Amino acid sequence: MAEGDHSNDAEEVSSKGLADDFQSESKVTNRIRDSYLKFLRKVAPNRASRVRIPVGEIAQRVEWSKGRGSLITEIPKIDDPSIEVADIYPVVEPYSFVRVTFNKESSEYILEMIEPALTEKEESLLNLIKDTLKRTLGYEWDKLTELDKGEYLTESVESYIKSRGVRIDPLVRKKIGYYIARDFVGYGKVDALIKDENIEDISCDGVGIPLFVFHRKYESIKTSLSFNDEDLLNSYVVALGQRCGKQISVSSPILDGTTPEGHRVQATYSREVTTRGSTFTIRRFKEKPFTPVELVKYGTASPEMIAYFWLGVENGESAIIAGGTASGKTATLNSIALFIPPGAKIVTMEDTREINLPHDNWIPGATRSGVGERDANGRLAGEIDMYDLVRASLRQRPNYIIVGEVRGKETYIMFQAMATGHTTYSTMHADSVKSMVNRLENPPINCPRILLTALRNVVIQTHARVGTDLVRRIKQVIEIVGFEPETNELITNTVYDWDQATDRFIYKGHSFLFDKIMEMKSLTHDEMMEEFNRRTDIVKYMVQKDITDHRKIWALINSYYKDQEKTIKRVRREMEEGVTQVGA
Ligand SMILES: Nc1ncnc2c1ncn2[C@@H]1O[C@H](COP(=O)(O)OP(=O)(O)OP(=O)(O)O)[C@@H](O)[C@H]1O
Ligand SMILES: [Mg+2]
Repeated sequence: MAEGDHSNDAEEVSSKGLADDFQSESKVTNRIRDSYLKFLRKVAPNRASRVRIPVGEIAQRVEWSKGRGSLITEIPKIDDPSIEVADIYPVVEPYSFVRVTFNKESSEYILEMIEPALTEKEESLLNLIKDTLKRTLGYEWDKLTELDKGEYLTESVESYIKSRGVRIDPLVRKKIGYYIARDFVGYGKVDALIKDENIEDISCDGVGIPLFVFHRKYESIKTSLSFNDEDLLNSYVVALGQRCGKQISVSSPILDGTTPEGHRVQATYSREVTTRGSTFTIRRFKEKPFTPVELVKYGTASPEMIAYFWLGVENGESAIIAGGTASGKTATLNSIALFIPPGAKIVTMEDTREINLPHDNWIPGATRSGVGERDANGRLAGEIDMYDLVRASLRQRPNYIIVGEVRGKETYIMFQAMATGHTTYSTMHADSVKSMVNRLENPPINCPRILLTALRNVVIQTHARVGTDLVRRIKQVIEIVGFEPETNELITNTVYDWDQATDRFIYKGHSFLFDKIMEMKSLTHDEMMEEFNRRTDIVKYMVQKDITDHRKIWALINSYYKDQEKTIKRVRREMEEGVTQVGA
C-alpha cells in the first residue's frame, strides 16, 4: 500500500516503529485492511465482498482448459445423465462460450450460449446504468464509430459509477461492461451468436420460441435463447431495421436489409404477417468472401470445374447459378467473379450487399426502399428497385454485370443486356434447367425463349447428403448451346455432372466453350487442353497452399493474365518443391 494512502493508518503504523520487521508489517497491513473493511461495512453495508481475484489472462486460460469457462463466465455443470456435451468453445473470451449438448432421450442437439452470470443486485445495477445511458446518449451517438462507441461507453459507465460513489468489484465491472457493450454496440441477446464464426444463420420464428441457428457442424439446431416478451421482440426487430437504415412497422411489416457490418437481415413486424409474432432471420456476413479455393476445399467443385469457370469468365460467357435457398449460390457467384480480368468494368446490383470483389473498376449498387404510400404501380416514393438499377447499369457501359439474385422483370433486361454483348452473372431460385426456364418464361419475367440462348452456362448448385454430412455441391454445369426453331427446344450440353454415390465430379466429354476458344484463338485441341491444364494447376496450387485470401488469389490470377509462361513455371516449380511461400 502506498505511503500517501490512508495517511491516518500510516501514522498508526509508524508510531509503532516496525519498519524493518516483515511479519509485523504484514500484521499491521492486515489490521489496517480490517479496520478499513469495518469502516466500509459501516458506510456501505451492501458493498461487494472483500475477496478480490486478479483477473489475469493466465488464470482464465487455466480455468478454461478445464472446460469450466472463465472466472467471469463459469460454465454450469450438467447433472442430467441423459445429456451429453458434444462441444464447448469460446466465442468472445473470457466472456461468452458456446456449449452444444446432445439429449439422448429426445435425440436433440441444443446450442447453449453461456454468458456472464449476474446476481440480482448486479442485474439491477446493470439496468440502472443502462437506463441512465439510454437517457444520456445524445444524437451524436449514431455518428460515432464502433471503436469510439466502446470508449464512450466505458467512460460513461466509469463516470456513472464514480458519481454514485459505488465501489464495484473489478470482476463485476467487467461483466457489466460486457453487457453494456453487447446491448449498446452489439446486437443484444443475439450478439454472441452473431460473433460465432461457426454460425451461418440465426432465426427467430416468434415470441417464446427458441432461436434456431444453422451451425457449420451441427446444421440447424435449437438454441437456449428466446425472446419471451412480445414488446421486447417488437422493439428488437425495429432496432434491427434501424441498423439496416430501414423502417419496419405495422404499415410496412416486411423488411429486407443489410447491417453496416454486412449481415443480411430479413424481418417481419409483430403479428401483422407472421402469426407467432415478430420474426427475423440474420445471415451472418462472412468477412472474407468465398473464394474458388474454398469451393474446392469444401468439395463444392473440382479444380477442373474451377478452371472451366475461369476460362468461361475470361471469355465473357454469361451464367446463372441456380439452386435452392442457402445452397451457396451467392458464394459461388462471388468466387467465380474473382476471375473477371483486372481492367474490366464491373457493375453489381443487389437487394442486400453481399458481393465483395477486389477489382478497382467496380460500381457496387444496391436497391433502396421508398417511403409513404404505394402508387398505382405498387411503388413507393423514392424507391429504387432492381429493374431501375439494371436499366441504369446499361448506361454505365459495363463489361460485366452481376445481379445478386433475379426474380422479377429486371431479369428480362438482364437477358437483353446479354443479347447485346454484355456478360452477366446472377443467381436464381430453381433446381434444374427445366424449372429455371419455366420461371424465366412465365410471369413476372416473361422472357422469350429465343432470348434465353444469350445465356451460355447454367450452374446448378445443391445442398445434399453425402453419408451423414449435409454438403454443398455443384450438381451440374450445363451449356446452353442453341435453339431448335422447329421444335422450339433449347439445346443444352452437360459439361460436368456430380455423382452423389461416389461424391465425384464427372466430365461428360465435351465442352462448346473449348470449341469456341479454339476457334477464336486458333488453337489445336492439344493446345486448348494444355491451356486448361495450366489453369487447373494454378487452382490446385492455390488449394495446396491454402490461399484463401481473395486479394492474394486475385493477384495470382492477374499475374497469370500478365505473364502466363512465367506464372505457370513458378507455380509448377513450387508445387513440385512443396515450397510454402505464397505470393504473386
Ligand atoms: N460451398 C460452400 N461450402 C460451405 N459453405 C458454404 C458454401 N457456400 C456457401 N456456404 C455458406 O452457406 C451460407 C449460405 O450461402 P449463400 O448466401 O451463398 O447461399 P445462397 O444460395 O445465395 O442463399 P440464398 O438463397 O439465401 O440467397 C453462407 O453462410 C455461406 O458461408
Ligand atoms: Mg444468395
